[in-house]
Amino acid sequence: EKNGTIELLGKTYQTDHVTNIRSSLIPKIGISLHNMKHHPLNLLKQQIVDYFYKNFINRQKNPVFSVYDSISPVVTLHQNFDSLLVPVDHVSRKPSESFYLNSQYMLRAHTSAHQSDLIRTGLNAFLVFGDVYRRDTIDSSHYPIFHQAEGVRLYRGQELFSKMNITGDYQIFENGEKNETKQPLHTKEAVMILEHELKSTLESLAFELFGKDVETQWVDAYFPFTHPSWELEIKFQGEWLEVLGCGIMEQELLTSAGAGDQIGWAFGLGLERLAMRLYSIPDIRQFWRYNDTGFMSQFAVKDPSTPIKYKEVSSYPQRIYNMSFWLTDGYSENDFYDLVRNVGGDVVEQVRLTDDFYHPKKKRKSHCYEIVYRDMSKSLSKEEANIIHKQIGEAASRELGVENRW
Ligand code: PHE
Repeated sequence: EKNGTIELLGKTYQTDHVTNIRSSLIPKIGISLHNMKHHPLNLLKQQIVDYFYKNFINRQKNPVFSVYDSISPVVTLHQNFDSLLVPVDHVSRKPSESFYLNSQYMLRAHTSAHQSDLIRTGLNAFLVFGDVYRRDTIDSSHYPIFHQAEGVRLYRGQELFSKMNITGDYQIFENGEKNETKQPLHTKEAVMILEHELKSTLESLAFELFGKDVETQWVDAYFPFTHPSWELEIKFQGEWLEVLGCGIMEQELLTSAGAGDQIGWAFGLGLERLAMRLYSIPDIRQFWRYNDTGFMSQFAVKDPSTPIKYKEVSSYPQRIYNMSFWLTDGYSENDFYDLVRNVGGDVVEQVRLTDDFYHPKKKRKSHCYEIVYRDMSKSLSKEEANIIHKQIGEAASRELGVENRW
């Protein structure tokens, strides 16, 4: 970043009042872990691709899905939001949620950002793999960059019914009512088939990856670009973990993308979440050890479906600190989390809000955070941790205007 411009993937972007991308993120953009040979995210990607190639074939026995894994993560706000019918006042548009290059470009917050463009090229079945970016909390399963797989499948008229060997005079469109189970233009017969195919496809994928014993459950969800919508959760360490969102694509989206005569489903799943569960990787930062043979050698298999149980090479100690300060107007937790990552880097394992306190006399709010430091490749000394913690405190008061409480 210099002179109000950002250089990214060979292009220059003018910064403006909405720019909030931070320097420590830039070297990671375009690394594409999902395309790196022997990286766990690549093994998972290959398994997902193989599953769709095997289970969706045309009459000539060729796979119907095409795969896109190298689309630039820099997208327009239109691609990320408007093309997906995200309302102008939707929370996901807030600057505290995403990384903006300027008021026109951002780092994609989901691979759904490419749905509309790919449909417009005439495709009716595709998978997109890519790195996505979100400002979020800091813990073992959240990191500002993660990876998603997107899937879209469209059908034209009778294709849907003949595929299921259903004969009779069924239609996919009607001029009906919108309700909990369908959109106004969709017939309930068409939606039933799509919902069944979508859910059984994704559930079978979970069984294929994790074995028949994995516990799964569907929960109703909301996305602006699908209706109805669902999330699939899988049981992980005794807790339900949300791994994907999906639904019947909004007809308005398809019409705007030049495919108003088709009907279809879409899903988006988080690769790290699945890979952590699949390979027993305890912390999301581990995925960035792609230069570390202690990590990568454990995934060096020929067949991507080989079962692998990751063993932590060694576990270095945690250093746990507290930080509390008085808040300023307009303070956002995500601004603080971002700053912590920017100053502390990957040595920060977790940040937790432990106290949210209002002082009635001073009429001021204060927050206390617990920050856990741990280096993944060596033991972090107390002195080193002290320095980082102090730097974070200083940066917080300088950049966020908060007032430290000692
Ligand atoms: N893009 C959504 C997310 O990131 C997931 C999704 C994709 C939901 C496609 C529905 C259809 O949460």
